Amino acid sequence: MAEDVSKLWQQVVADSERNRSASLRDLFDRDDLRAQNMTQALSDGESEIVVDFSKQIIDEQALKNLLALARQARVVEKFAEMRSGAIVNFTENQPALHTALRTAQTANIELDGQDIVKKVHQELEKIRIFAEKVCRDKKFKKIVNIGIGGSDLGPALIYDALSASHKTEIECLFVSNIDSTEINSILAKCRPQETMFVVCSKSFKTAETLANARIARQWLAKGLGVSVESEVVAEHFVVVSANNAQARVAGVNAANAFQIWPWVGGRYSIASATSLAPIIAFGFDAFSDFLAGMRSVDDQMQNVDLENNTTLILGLIDVFNFGTGRFSSQAILPYASALRLLPNYLQQLIMESNGKSVRQDGKPTDVATSPVVWGGVGTNSQHAFMQMLHQGTQIVPAEFIGFAQLANVDAESHDALMANMFAQAKALAFGDAQHATKDSVIGPHREMTGNRPSTTLLAKSLTPRTLGALIAMYEHRVFVHGVIAQINSFDQWGVELGKTLSVEINNQITQGETAVNDSSTKSLIAKYRQLRRKN
Ligand code: F6P
Repeated sequence: MAEDVSKLWQQVVADSERNRSASLRDLFDRDDLRAQNMTQALSDGESEIVVDFSKQIIDEQALKNLLALARQARVVEKFAEMRSGAIVNFTENQPALHTALRTAQTANIELDGQDIVKKVHQELEKIRIFAEKVCRDKKFKKIVNIGIGGSDLGPALIYDALSASHKTEIECLFVSNIDSTEINSILAKCRPQETMFVVCSKSFKTAETLANARIARQWLAKGLGVSVESEVVAEHFVVVSANNAQARVAGVNAANAFQIWPWVGGRYSIASATSLAPIIAFGFDAFSDFLAGMRSVDDQMQNVDLENNTTLILGLIDVFNFGTGRFSSQAILPYASALRLLPNYLQQLIMESNGKSVRQDGKPTDVATSPVVWGGVGTNSQHAFMQMLHQGTQIVPAEFIGFAQLANVDAESHDALMANMFAQAKALAFGDAQHATKDSVIGPHREMTGNRPSTTLLAKSLTPRTLGALIAMYEHRVFVHGVIAQINSFDQWGVELGKTLSVEINNQITQGETAVNDSSTKSLIAKYRQLRRKN
């Protein structure tokens, strides 16, 4: 870390220490304008998302020092460089051009002499034509997306989030796990002649996806009474990959294929053809709005002055909460069942991006990196884990996400839903000292200390634009934390060893090979081989 940045970082760490003993009640008592001054708006290009970070345990001096740190570390300048194609993923010698997937057609981004924007928009036009044809032909009633990680979580999130507000004659189903219980239950709901399979895999080397594609192909061929090699089967398959040739090598013969690119990470691919299934289901116009919402946040992140750059500030609060090691877990609490998959989606986005411990220069980072990201929908969370957030020994910053309007909901129930969200944030922040004084025996057990931080995001409604804006906002918060921690947020070497070991162990299980193993693994394999024998 450069000397001047390092000095500012030390100041932020000192601010974090100072704020350990800060009280939200005092911070609000001392400043009647705190809520107003710590509430900003993020635009999705059509409506605004209210962002209230006043219940974070941070004082104005700390915020000022975080902004100075961002300025000194050139966070926004580095963001602009990333958007222009800088090789930010240096361990894989790749740029991270997920923002190019939704950039305006007039933008100019060149990579190895190729016009990236032209490629992106040509593929979008191909997607639009295909999606409209599928809907016009009315042959397919179900689309089964086969993929995992970013090849599943993104399209599944879009489909879930928009299902209540967007009608569709085509149902999307999602298969990811290699546990074939999952694909079996999905295929049981499908009829071969009216089912399309979209096989999403950037690498087309992911074992789970190849296994599920094999099962799907066999199921389809059997159901249609043809061979798996038949062109009839191929008509039911679409491949989305950065390696379409590998799809055929892997035995997936598809009549249609769409391109994603090596310069977009799997967990950043939601704005690409990876989302083909929900694009077909809800129509290309909805996806265009989704992309527009993302683009709006991209542009705000790059152009708005630091003090009013809401996405940057949220990223800096993540740095303050988690980068200083003050807290180690983050709860994502959407008060909308339509966003029930958002915590899962953000787990991959945040933890696979920033779950690192080595700086770009190869030395251990002195900034704590990814928190453990988890969560669940409100109000269910209040009947599951909120007890721990209110009275547990570990403080967990919470992120509340709510909407003034949701499609087709009961007005009275919606008011109650939102009242619960506001109540939870209030109770976490300010607690309730009353119980502690009333009864000396159980008083301490009922005490609600409060002083538990949260941010509340309040949007008008869950439109494709708002969804796109929210996702881009989280992507760029990851970027901010990654820049301050000086890590590479765009590779994922940590997932490789498990995959390699699983192949070796699979061989030991299936062929009885006795590779050198630790005694525990050896014993477990032996017990498994024994137990799996049918009696
Ligand atoms: O978890 C590792 C990973 O490579 C993710 O980054 C990716 O989203 C997922 O596996 C699936 O990879 P692919 O799209 O290449 O099948």
